[in-house]
Amino acid sequence: MIEKINGLRRRIEEFVPTTASEVEELRIAVLGKNGEINALMEEFRTVAPEMKREVGQALNAVKTLATERIAELKESCGENSKTPSPSAADLTRPGTNDALGSRHPVSVVMGEVCDIFARLGYTIADGPEIEDDWHVFTALNFPPEHPARDMQDTFFIEKNPDILLRTHTSSIQARAMQTQKPPIRVICPGRVFRNEAISARSHCMFHQVEGLYVDKNVSFADLKQSVLYFAKEFFGERAAIRLRPSYFPFTEPSAEVDVSCQLCGGAGCNVCKHTGWLEIMGCGMVDPAVLDACGIDSREYSGFAFGMGIERTAMLKYGIRDIRLLFENDVRFLQQFESA
Ligand code: DAH
Repeated sequence: MIEKINGLRRRIEEFVPTTASEVEELRIAVLGKNGEINALMEEFRTVAPEMKREVGQALNAVKTLATERIAELKESCGENSKTPSPSAADLTRPGTNDALGSRHPVSVVMGEVCDIFARLGYTIADGPEIEDDWHVFTALNFPPEHPARDMQDTFFIEKNPDILLRTHTSSIQARAMQTQKPPIRVICPGRVFRNEAISARSHCMFHQVEGLYVDKNVSFADLKQSVLYFAKEFFGERAAIRLRPSYFPFTEPSAEVDVSCQLCGGAGCNVCKHTGWLEIMGCGMVDPAVLDACGIDSREYSGFAFGMGIERTAMLKYGIRDIRLLFENDVRFLQQFESA
């Protein structure tokens, strides 16, 4: 039987047709209902059990060869009866819409924020999401038992030494100061994690952008002007800002920045809770203790830092009322950002 199979194989390999109908004749003779392959399949039943494996494999191989070779020959002989000629296409048929992907609003906003600061000469800095205690807390002036550590509920991975998911991208400013020499101008986008219940207003994972500027004679006026420039670029020329005194362990003095509500123009509405103002970021002058901890001489240099939540900023810009929408990936929601 093996010989028969080999004979068939040779005939298929050596077959040179001149017309499409010759190919069709071969197909019927080999692969047709009463063709040679089916006859061999029938004969296969009678093969001795110890030969079944070898013969079965040879038979399958010749069947595959025949199928492929005949398809190939049909193609080269110009016969492809399944494809209608171009004139048979129905030109009145409605077209199909290919859904285009779009960038996620979080990426859109993150890119915009980075672009605005890039125009002021900032470069992008990166850092790990799994961090050590030193970069997230200690270097940033959070003493071991300081209650400020409770401001941010932390996911710990290991204890002693503490390894954790960073709770803010301020950890990257510590890394930037350790590795760069002033003048330092960095913008640090990234994901952060906090052990918080998920609700319309908060999530256990979100994104922040951190900014840091360290040089000689950097003043609070520089900080204010940079933030104002950002607000006008991002929210529009009519945006105004106001600074409220605040507290962060790593900045002194510290402030929270509000931007005039773009939805009501400052007159007061639901979104700004009738105050006319929306909180957009925290900022301040880098505490000299932080500069020194990261290897920068605080007698020679000063700096400012700021940090903002990307989801929050996206929600303000697009009027999104539930942060969870930004993580569910419902295409009906995401499609609305196709042109963004
Ligand atoms: N890291 C702060 C937070 O997660 C945000 C922040 C506030 C960053 C003030 C700063 C800053 O750089 O100066 O809430």
